[in-house]
Amino acid sequence: MKWEIKQFNSLVSTNTTARAYPEGTIVMAETQTGGRGRYGRVWQSPKGNLYVSFVFASDPMRDRYLSFLTGLALAESLPEFNVRLKWPNDVLLDGKKVAGILLETVEDKVIVGIGVNLISNPVKNMLYPTANLGGLLSPIGLVKRLMIQYDALFKVFQEKGFRKIQSRWLDLAVGVGETISVHLPTEELIGIFQGISEDGALLLKTGKQVRSITVGDVFLI
Ligand code: BTN
Repeated sequence: MKWEIKQFNSLVSTNTTARAYPEGTIVMAETQTGGRGRYGRVWQSPKGNLYVSFVFASDPMRDRYLSFLTGLALAESLPEFNVRLKWPNDVLLDGKKVAGILLETVEDKVIVGIGVNLISNPVKNMLYPTANLGGLLSPIGLVKRLMIQYDALFKVFQEKGFRKIQSRWLDLAVGVGETISVHLPTEELIGIFQGISEDGALLLKTGKQVRSITVGDVFLI
């Protein structure tokens, strides 16, 4: 893909600004005044960390896999760190959240927003413990790595399909085969994390049943 980077000092949210740009645009901001996380949570966005959004043309064959492709691209962009992935799309360092991914579909585009704690991480009132990468990488340095990893993974996806991506993702995933708790919008489920389905759902064995979960927060217990 041919990428074009747009850099801003401050935006409300790179995901919002990205909506106005064509496929292949990468929107970066030094800070965000209204950074968003999943489920409308606030994503605190002080200077020094990475706030970036990639604009993709919607592609029914690829859209539902973009979160796995992105998590994997991010993990593979950080070879010097021992990062792991947590379903659906968190990146963990030593079991603590170091990056988050927010996908938003707008008309014929999918905006993939990525926040990475490069030098600092929020600590107060967090749903999960958090960590940062110790200031070893610059925002633009990481974006350049991400562009390379995305291109490489899209090639694998095109040639070999989701299976290959799924197995690489599972190799880095935390909690597979273990008992986890999944918080759904209206209930909490506890079961054994069996893997992910062909369409990206989390497979949770609760008693004799295997539930296929498409939305929720995973907690390792
Ligand atoms: C999450 O884990 O809840 C997802 C967090 C996603 C944060 C990024 S920062 C860049 C982009 N702009 C936003 O407003 N959110 C995403």
